[in-house]
Amino acid sequence: MTKHTKSTKLPNNEDKADFVRDLFNRIAPNYDLMNDLMTGGLHRLWKKKVCKSLDIQAGQKVLDLCCGTGDLTFMLLRENPKAEIVGIDFSQEMLTYALERKKKEKHYHAQISFEQGDVMNLPYSDNSFDRLVISFGLRNVSDYEKCLREIYRVAKKGAKFMILDLSHPRGFWDKVSGFYRFQLLPLIGKLLAKDYEAYEYLPNSIQIYPNQEKLVELLVKAGWQKVSYENIFGGVVSIHQAEK
Ligand SMILES: C[S@@+](CC[C@H](N)C(=O)[O-])C[C@H]1O[C@@H](n2cnc3c(N)ncnc32)[C@H](O)[C@@H]1O
Repeated sequence: MTKHTKSTKLPNNEDKADFVRDLFNRIAPNYDLMNDLMTGGLHRLWKKKVCKSLDIQAGQKVLDLCCGTGDLTFMLLRENPKAEIVGIDFSQEMLTYALERKKKEKHYHAQISFEQGDVMNLPYSDNSFDRLVISFGLRNVSDYEKCLREIYRVAKKGAKFMILDLSHPRGFWDKVSGFYRFQLLPLIGKLLAKDYEAYEYLPNSIQIYPNQEKLVELLVKAGWQKVSYENIFGGVVSIHQAEK
């Protein structure tokens, strides 16, 4: 694997939650546009793939963890408009955009709700949700294992859980994505979002995120069963799935 050097220090674990919350509060106004620009719109295809694989049934309770501006949350609802979808995130600013979207989706008001909360300490009883998903979120939490255990706690028996995130590519894809992530991305962030630090954090956060196999191990350790994963673009992005 190509070695890419970290150009800034990452926050230590005690400071990570505050750092991440501040960062997303700051970039919230540009978040959706930047996502489209940075992935050429591909994040929508990856999210749609996850929505389909979750196989949501009418009446089921679905939890979108680290829901941000609600991009995936509304896709989940469109996948099955008879499901009950809850989005949770700790950034007030990101949630403001999610709530703006909700105002526009008048027909779906009853089926979708957003809450401010920490995914490391979920405000739900044990065995509450049939489907759970975290997209581009797990990488940002300060304790991956604790978070996976907490998600497991609120999942019903037989529940399906999926993780979509940037991951660790190999060979050709590592070289291409390394150049993009470490050289181009912070510059794009500086020019378009006027926030170099925020977009420099992103590649650094991938460096310390468990690779695909390690994440399988962590899921199993947290109690999840039938754990598997799929790489997209050689592992630039990976989708893990598991059942309780
Ligand atoms: C990259 S965004 C992903 C948003 C959305 N899921 C998507 O795919 O577009 C990451 C989100 O995770 C949220 N987040 C990070 N750590 C969190 C935590 N411990 N509890 C709740 N939300 C958290 C951030 O506030 C941010 O909105």
